[in-house]
Amino acid sequence: MDLRDAFPPFGLRIEAGPLVLRPITDDVLPTLIDVAAAGVHDPNRMPFSYPWTDASPDRLPTNFVQYHWGTRTRWSTNAWALDLAVEYEGEIVGTQGFTTHDYLVTRTGETGSWLGLAHHDRGIGTRMRQAICAFVFDHLDAEEITSAAFADNPASLAVSRKVGYRPDGRQRLNRRGESAVNQRLVLAPEDLVRGEPIVVTGVEAFRSFIGLDRQES
Ligand SMILES: CC(C)(COP(=O)(O)OP(=O)(O)OC[C@H]1O[C@@H](n2cnc3c(N)ncnc32)[C@H](O)[C@@H]1OP(=O)(O)O)[C@@H](O)C(=O)NCCC(=O)NCCS
Repeated sequence: MDLRDAFPPFGLRIEAGPLVLRPITDDVLPTLIDVAAAGVHDPNRMPFSYPWTDASPDRLPTNFVQYHWGTRTRWSTNAWALDLAVEYEGEIVGTQGFTTHDYLVTRTGETGSWLGLAHHDRGIGTRMRQAICAFVFDHLDAEEITSAAFADNPASLAVSRKVGYRPDGRQRLNRRGESAVNQRLVLAPEDLVRGEPIVVTGVEAFRSFIGLDRQES
């Protein structure tokens, strides 16, 4: 038995030049924890609506593996979260995700990502978002993709703008006990500003796993 047959997200691989989006299998988790523990953002700021980077250094590794094990366990056709490790020039540098529910009906979902601080501002965030969006539009038949970022996260907002997302309203969220403006974003297929062409492995099994192309029984 190959685990990729039991769990097809483990068989997915999206390559775009020096960038590879690859499954977060257990062997990748320790490196990702090291990258996250070295810092993802200025600790005085909080870019995430769920503040996972606020965990203490002794708690973060456990939370991190439990989150990733949890997304595998909870995966269903109705609700799934595809989190992929980002490898750039052979080095694991962060993650890129796409989360959705009722995908077979809504054909939409939300991107979310992070990079280790040492890897910011080298264009990797733009490349990985372009790669996941090209994958979801071209290989999963998505009709739109959403994202969101706090108004004081210029890097994330710049990536969204460069990739072609448009503003789609704002909402106030509780961030560390204070009200913070969160900018919603939406990307239409025709607005995607593409990066390097993607080469995808494992998409047939993945499409079937999420309910696309599945034979009715
Ligand atoms: C968001 C993130 C993934 C972007 O990755 P990245 O590799 O740094 O992004 P890129 O280098 O491709 O692009 C960043 C853009 O933001 C711009 N930028 C960065 N800091 C900025 C600032 N303080 N003010 C204005 N623009 C800024 C850069 O100039 C660049 O735009 P340009 O190419 O037009 O010059 C990364 O910053 C990150 O991991 N941040 C912490 C976690 C996070 O915020 N995740 C998203 C939650 S919504």
